[in-house]
Amino acid sequence: MKKQFIGPFTQLLTMRDLPLKGALADKQLEIINHAGLYVENEYIVEVGDYEQLEEKYQDAEQVVLSGNNVCLPSYIDCHTHIAFAGNRANDFALRNAGSSYLEITAAGGGIWSTVQHTRACSEEELIDLIVERANELVKQGITTIEVKSGYGLNVEQELKTLRAIKSANTKTVTELISTCLAAHMKPRNFVGTSVEYLNYIQEELFPILKAEKLTNRIDAFIEQSAFSADEIRSYLVKAKEMGFDITLHADQFTTSGSALAVEVGAVSADHLEASTIEEIQLLADSDVVAVALPAASLGLGCDFTPARALLDAGASLAIATDWNPGSAPMGQLLASASILATMQKLTNAEVLAALTFRATHALNLKDRGRLVAGQLADFIIYSTDNYQNITYLQGTLQPTSVWKNGQQIYH
Ligand code: NIG
Ligand code: FE
Repeated sequence: MKKQFIGPFTQLLTMRDLPLKGALADKQLEIINHAGLYVENEYIVEVGDYEQLEEKYQDAEQVVLSGNNVCLPSYIDCHTHIAFAGNRANDFALRNAGSSYLEITAAGGGIWSTVQHTRACSEEELIDLIVERANELVKQGITTIEVKSGYGLNVEQELKTLRAIKSANTKTVTELISTCLAAHMKPRNFVGTSVEYLNYIQEELFPILKAEKLTNRIDAFIEQSAFSADEIRSYLVKAKEMGFDITLHADQFTTSGSALAVEVGAVSADHLEASTIEEIQLLADSDVVAVALPAASLGLGCDFTPARALLDAGASLAIATDWNPGSAPMGQLLASASILATMQKLTNAEVLAALTFRATHALNLKDRGRLVAGQLADFIIYSTDNYQNITYLQGTLQPTSVWKNGQQIYH
C-alpha cells in the first residue's frame, strides 16, 4: 500500500459539511491552518494539524513542502464540448460585427459548421485533440472533465466521437466523463422531422451506448434552433428508463428546458442565462444542479446566468467552462468563474463549491470534491498564503501541483 503524508499547508480548505444547495458565506469554509494530508493509495484518510499527523504517520512517505501553500480539492469541469475539430473564429467575428448566434446558425454556420469539420476528422485525430485540450485543463487544476459528443449527429459519427472520448480517457492523466449530445440539433442533411431524428437516435444509438459502455449520460439542447420540450420529452423519458442520467442545455436564449429538466429529474440544467424568477424557483425546489457557463456569456456577449438569484432561492450552483469552438472558445475555468463572481456577487465559498463538490453532484459522482476521509485524493496546491487570491487573481494564479487519485499528475 502506498502511504503518503503531505504538508505543511499554510491553509487547507476541506469543503467539509457545506450543503449541496443554497447561498454560502466564506465563514462556513473549514480552513485548517498549518495542515497536513495523509493519503493511502488513491484515497484521503485524514486531514488535520500538521504536527499531530506527522507524529501519527511517521511510516508514510513524507512529501514536505516549502514556502506558503494553499491546498483544496481539485476542480471538476462538469460541462465541456472538447471533442471537436476546426475553429469558428469567423462566427466570432460575425457576432462581433452584429449578427446573433441564432442568425448565424440559421445561415448554416454555428454548430453545423463544427459538425462538418468533426465528421471529416478521423477517430485518431479526434483522440489527440481531446487529450490536448484535457491536458490544458489539468494545468488549471481540473482533474475530472465532462466531455460531450454532439458534433457527429448520426449514429456512426456519434459513436466515433464517444469511442474517441473513451480512448482519450486512457491517454490523459485526468478523468473524462462522457455524455451523448446527439440531440444538439437536427442535422441539416437528415431527411425527416425532429421527432423522426430523435427516434432514430434512440432506437439505433442508445442500445450501442449501453452495450459498449460508452456513456451513462444523455444531454439535449432545448432551444428554437434545436429541439422543443414537446419534441424531446419522450426521448428523455426513454433514456431515463434505460438508466441514463439526463442533463439539459436549458434557458440559454429563451426560457426553454429548465421546467423539463425538473420534470424528468435531470441531474443538471445548464446555461440558464434566460431563466426568470419562475424557472429559478422551480430549480431551487428540485434536486437539479444549476450549471452556470460564464465563458459562454463572455463568448457570445450575452447575460450571465442569474447565479446570485439561484443561490438565494436555494438552488445548487456549479460553474463549468462549456469549452466549445462556438460560444465558449476560452476554456478558462477560473478566469470565467471569477468574472461571474464579480458580476453576480458570489462569495469565494460559493465559487469554490461550484467548482468542486457541487460540480461533482452535477455528474452524479459521490467520491470526490471534498478533502475529507474516504474521498479520492484529488487536490491542488497553489503557492500563495491566502485562498482568496484564487478568485482575486481571476485565473492568473495557476496551481503549482495537481494530484489525482493520490498521484501528482502535474507540477
Ligand atoms: O453550450 N448551446 C449549445 N451548445 C453549445 C454551443 C455549441 C456550439 O456553438 O458549437 C453551448 O453553448
Ligand atoms: Fe454546452
